[in-house]
Amino acid sequence: MKSFIASIVILVTAVLGMAVASEISDPPRPEGVRGAAFSETPEAPPIAGVTERRGRMERNYPEQPPVIPHKVEGYQLDKRFNRCLDCHSRNASPESGAPMVSVTHFMDRDKQVLAAVSPDRYFCTQCHVPQTDAEPLVENQFRTVDEVLRDLADQRKQ
Ligand code: HEC
Ligand code: HEC
Repeated sequence: MKSFIASIVILVTAVLGMAVASEISDPPRPEGVRGAAFSETPEAPPIAGVTERRGRMERNYPEQPPVIPHKVEGYQLDKRFNRCLDCHSRNASPESGAPMVSVTHFMDRDKQVLAAVSPDRYFCTQCHVPQTDAEPLVENQFRTVDEVLRDLADQRKQ
């Protein structure tokens, strides 16, 4: 009985404590990307639209998985079926006009070239992504190696 009363007392104290805590004003916060105080529920931004581009896009560095210049919504990609390979496989590519997956996609992790796309590379969207029109959350300060080399050359001239 004693422990029952004790748990009631603890429960009531906890509920009261929560009521008091919810009235406490928001603590100071850093300027975050969320743009609202912790206790506020800001309106969700609209879902970004996928941008469809004509032609392939430049890579920022040679090893970059090229970004996808077309929509992939609704493309089945699971252990039973790979819609991407319907167009990008070795034999489908001349007909579809899609660039063939490169030879690296046929290599296993020991660099052994296999007859078909390696399981390592089966789930294409692990590495390749379409682009959206979303505003960047933070400024991108990436510079390509050409820009870096040009700046270095300019510095040396001075
Ligand atoms: C209906 C055929 C088709 C399907 C299905 C398809 N693609 Fe493509 N894809 C293309 C074509 C055509 C291009 C070339 C676009 C161009 O040159 O304008 C392309 C381009 C690409 C590129 C750019 C390659 C580069 O070197 O820049 C990537 C990456 C890509 N697709 C990935 C995918 C992935 C991942 C999927 C599955 C989720 C997929 N594609 C499904 C037809 C297809
Ligand atoms: C583990 C990451 C990874 C996965 C998974 C992957 N790729 Fe790639 N892909 C790359 C990288 C990195 C490159 C660029 C360098 C290269 O060719 O290996 C590339 C290049 C490509 C290219 C351009 C080929 C060329 O010759 O320019 C196409 C097309 C492509 N991938 C399609 C696909 C498709 C379709 C799938 C799924 C079957 C897939 N990739 C799975 C990383 C990946």
